[in-house]
Amino acid sequence: MSGNICLIGYMGSGKTTVGRLLADEYGMVFKDTDVLITEREGRSIPEIFAAEGEAYFRKLEHELVAELAEDDGDYRIILSTGGGLPVDERNRELLKKIGTVVYLRARAESLYERVKNDTGRPLLVTDDRLKRITGMLKERGPIYETAADVIIDTDELGAEDVVLRISQKVLEI
Ligand code: S3P
Repeated sequence: MSGNICLIGYMGSGKTTVGRLLADEYGMVFKDTDVLITEREGRSIPEIFAAEGEAYFRKLEHELVAELAEDDGDYRIILSTGGGLPVDERNRELLKKIGTVVYLRARAESLYERVKNDTGRPLLVTDDRLKRITGMLKERGPIYETAADVIIDTDELGAEDVVLRISQKVLEI
């Protein structure tokens, strides 16, 4: 659907912050897959993972993104996606159908700095969080790159700078 943007990237890459800013600045509707799932389920992501397991959460993610791909609303959306969503190939296809896919790329060390004290991400519950991030990024990095239409390197950028880059590269404003 033209004019929509899907933000992808690892946990802590700034998808939600950047997505909200972009939506505000350009009068677009902000949607966040984690928030939509949490609202529908009436429980938090850690609670869903603990009670039902990761596979159940992935099923919810896929169903949601399939639904969003069918929703041809007459407004433009910014979709912030959970960090694991593009790992499923079907979801990568659906994201492309929804809009331009923008990967907010960052080094493991930068991501670690942003999520080191976070308690809401079940996949980061480990003794060595930096090691976990580095390992996951090794696997997911190439997947995010395949899924993306546009890649923005965010290590040295603040959220407003990322918004500006996206607007220049995608929104052409
Ligand atoms: C996940 C990322 C989280 C959330 C869940 C799993 C992942 O979203 O969907 O904890 O697999 O990377 P954020 O990327 O918004 O933190």
